[in-house]
Amino acid sequence: MTTAKVHAVPHILTSPWRPGDALTVEEAGCLAAALSPVSLRELSCCGFSDELIAGLLHRGLLAGGEPAPGLWFRHGWGRPQEFLKAAVADRARTAHSRPPQPGPVSGVLDSREVVHQVLARRSVRKFSREPLARSVLEDTLTAAGALLHAMPYLRLYVVAQDVEATPRGAYAYRSDGTLILLRDGVEDRTMRDVAHQYWVLGTGAVIFIGVCWKDLEEVHGSGPAAFLTLLTECGKLAHTMVLTATAQSAGTWMTPAIDEQRAAEACGLADTDGRDGELLYMVKIGMPRTAEDDQ
Ligand SMILES: Cc1cc2nc3c(=O)[nH]c(=O)nc-3n(C[C@H](O)[C@H](O)[C@H](O)COP(=O)(O)O)c2cc1C
Repeated sequence: MTTAKVHAVPHILTSPWRPGDALTVEEAGCLAAALSPVSLRELSCCGFSDELIAGLLHRGLLAGGEPAPGLWFRHGWGRPQEFLKAAVADRARTAHSRPPQPGPVSGVLDSREVVHQVLARRSVRKFSREPLARSVLEDTLTAAGALLHAMPYLRLYVVAQDVEATPRGAYAYRSDGTLILLRDGVEDRTMRDVAHQYWVLGTGAVIFIGVCWKDLEEVHGSGPAAFLTLLTECGKLAHTMVLTATAQSAGTWMTPAIDEQRAAEACGLADTDGRDGELLYMVKIGMPRTAEDDQ
C-alpha cells in the first residue's frame, strides 16, 4: 500500500443502496473513512483489506487523487443524504444504550412565541435600494455568535454588499464582535457564482457559516452522527440569524446550496481545509423592497 490518496465519490455514493448493488458493512465503512482524502496506507491501517479497496476502486466508489473542489455542489446532496440515512440508522440502533439527549430542535422551537415568529415570517428575495443598517447586521451576528461557544468548530463570515458604514467586502466575524476585513470589494459576479440564484444580490449582506472539520472531529468525532450534529447546528444558527434580523424588519432567505469553492474565494479564505473552515451555509439579509423602491 502506498501513500497515494483516495476519496469516496459522492455522486456514486447514492447508488450502492439500490437493490442489487448493496454495500457490505466493511465497504460502507471504508467509503465513510475516505470521505476526506486518505492514503491507501491509512485505509490499510484501519483494517480495510487490499482486496476490498481494489474492489471499491474498480466499482468507481473510490477515486484516486485529490477531489476537485466543490464536489458537493456539483454532485448535489448525495453525500449529506447518505450521511443522514446512516446517522438516523445509527441512532436507532444505539438509542437504547445512550443517555437521554435533547431533541434536535431543543433551544430552537421550544416556545409558543418562537413557533409563531417562524410561522409569521416569509423569505424575502427582493431587496430595497436602501442599505442595511449596520446595527441589524451586528445584532444578527451577536445573536449567532452567542451560540458559537457551544459550537467551537463553526465560523461566521460576512460579505457586506451594501451595509451602512461598512465598506463593501468580505469579513471574518470574531467572538469579540469585531469584523476583520479579508477581502476588499466583492463583485456581484462573484456572489452570483456562489449561489447561482440572483436574489443573493442586492443591498444588505450575506452571512456564511463555515466548519473547521478538524475541530469538529475533536469535539464530536468523525462519522454520521457528527455530521448530523453539524447540519442541525447550521440550522440553529441560521434560524437564530433569521429571527433576529426579522425582528428588526429585515428580510432573509437561506440556503446550504452554495458552491463551496466560489464561496471561499468570495470570502478570501486561503485555508479551507484548516482553521478557516469550509463554508457550508449562507443567510442573505437585507431590507425588503418597498413600493417606494419601485418608483
Ligand atoms: C435548508 C434550506 C434550504 C433552502 N434553500 C433555498 C434555496 O436554495 N433558494 C431559495 O430561494 N430558498 C431556499 N430556502 C428557503 C425556503 O425556500 C423557504 O424557507 C421555504 O420555501 C419556506 O418559505 P418561507 O421561508 O417564506 O417560510 C431554503 C431553506 C432551507 C431551510
